Parts: sequence; structure tokens; C-alpha cells
Amino acid sequence: MADSRETRAPAAFVTGWPIKHSRSPIIHRYWLEQYAVAGSYAAVPATEEDFPSFIASLKDGSGGYVGGNVTIPHKETAFRLADRPDALAEELGAANTLFLQNGELHATNTDGYGFAANLDERHADWDKADRAVILGAGGASRAVIQAVRDRGVGEIHVVNRTFSRAKELADRFGAAIHAHAMAALPEVMTGAGLFINTTSLGMDGGDTIDLDFSVMARGALVTDIVYVPLETPVLKQARMQGYATADGLGMLLHQAVPGFEKWFGHRPAVDERLRSLIVDDIGSVP
Ligand code: ATR
Repeated sequence: MADSRETRAPAAFVTGWPIKHSRSPIIHRYWLEQYAVAGSYAAVPATEEDFPSFIASLKDGSGGYVGGNVTIPHKETAFRLADRPDALAEELGAANTLFLQNGELHATNTDGYGFAANLDERHADWDKADRAVILGAGGASRAVIQAVRDRGVGEIHVVNRTFSRAKELADRFGAAIHAHAMAALPEVMTGAGLFINTTSLGMDGGDTIDLDFSVMARGALVTDIVYVPLETPVLKQARMQGYATADGLGMLLHQAVPGFEKWFGHRPAVDERLRSLIVDDIGSVP
């Protein structure tokens, strides 16, 4: 007899707290419609207190989901509660994508994939840089460090206001990673081919810092993982100084690709229409 879960259209979720500002439903519903896939994607609010029982209902099938996305503040707990975290999630200690397979809950982290896929699309050869500078050592910087290292950039400098956090990440991610306090920025930027802002500096019009990109290698790329505003103060300074830039919106779009493929069985493409849907939602001018 067929299991009702096999015959029902697959349902996926994004959960976090708060969740109402998540743009993941726009992305996944766009693809469901574009590829005429029978399936659904819902935003499910869950507090830290609720989250373990949400995961329990996912595992026992009573939630009716095939998997989903997990965002702040549940990424670390999702990793811990999964039956089978992959090596990427394991190293980060955090998961953003869950899926059920043979009755077990698998967890991965697609943020690093999204970061790299965005740059592959916007600025091929970004990974040929000999030296990369990553500004920031918060939660969001980890997947970026992992991705840049895994693409073979030999020298990665993590610079952070609080040195101890940068040091912790250098210890975690291996010999290619070097930790610094802010004062080292001009020195480590010298000759670098890649600069990545992972801090909240300039987000939503907040504080920023003045950066002199002119010491970087010719043809260097500057990117930001923040996408509100689309052109952050860091990117604006780089552009005005004549450097190539890539905004952070593509990372959000690309990190969604592997999850959609797992849950719905079709590998989706990131296209301009999807990008403009999110740009419209952000309310900024493309
Ligand atoms: P996320 O998980 O989004 O990365 P986070 O863990 O709060 O958020 O980290 C924010 C990052 O922005 C950190 O690297 C933080 O530096 P500290 O570790 O010293 O806090 C950085 N950041 C935030 N405001 C900053 C500021 N005004 N100047 C320099 N760095 C700042």
C-alpha cells in the first residue's frame, strides 16, 4: 500500500524566529511555478523553545515535510538535532538546509556554495586570487571562510574588531587562515585579489568605515554578503576607487538551489527575473 507521504506533493519550509522577513518563500515559490513542479514552500515561525518539537515532527513524518531551510536563531540547533550532518555542516557547526532520506534527517550548509556560485557567475576566476581578505568573524563569515579555502585560495586573512573571534576561526579552519585585528587591514589588503565584507557595517544605513582599496592587486574583486542595501558602503567605496564589485544578493539566491533540488527533484536556475523579484521586495533600485 502506498504511503500517503509518497503520493502527496512534496512540502518544504523555512523556519526561524522571526521568520516573516525571510525571502526564501519568494525564491522557492518562483521556481515551483516556473518549473510547474507540484509542491509547496511555507514560512513556519518557531521560537527556540518550539524548535526541537518542530524537528521531532519533521523526523517522525507528522509535520508532512520532506525538508526545509533553517535560519536565525536555529542553524546551530538544527545541526545538533540532525541524524546525518554532512562534512560542511559538521565543520561549521551549523546547518541551513535539511532533508529526509530513508527516514533520517540529513543536514547541510549551502551558504558557502551560494557564495562561490554567485562569484563564479559574476566574476569568473575570483578564486585565482593568491590572497583574500575577509572582514568580520561572526556567524556569517564562517561559510565564506570555508568556501574560499575549499576553492584553493592559499592565503586567507580574517580581520575583525574583536581579535579573539578571528583567532578562533583561524584555529578552526586551518593553516591557510590568519587572524588579525583591524589595524592590520592596510597591510593584509596589500596585493590581495579578493576582499569580502561579512560584517554588518553599513547594513540598513548603519555605521561604516573608510577603506583604501588602492593597495590591492590590479583587477581585484570586492564583494559583500550584505544585500540591504544592494550597494553597501563597502561596495560603493570600491566602485568609486575603480574596483570590480559583486553584491551579496546572488549568494542568497544561489544558496537556495541545492535545497530546491533535494526537495523537489529539479535543479533550478538563478535568473534575472528572480533577482528582480527580490530587489523589488527589498524596495531598492536595481
Ligand atoms: P553575523 O552572524 O551576521 O556575522 P555577528 O556574529 O553579530 O553577526 O557578527 C557581526 C560581525 O560584524 C562581527 O565580525 C562584528 O565584529 P565583532 O566580532 O568585533 O563584534 C562585526 N561588526 C559589527 N559592527 C561593527 C563595527 N561597528 N565595526 C567593526 N566590526 C563590526
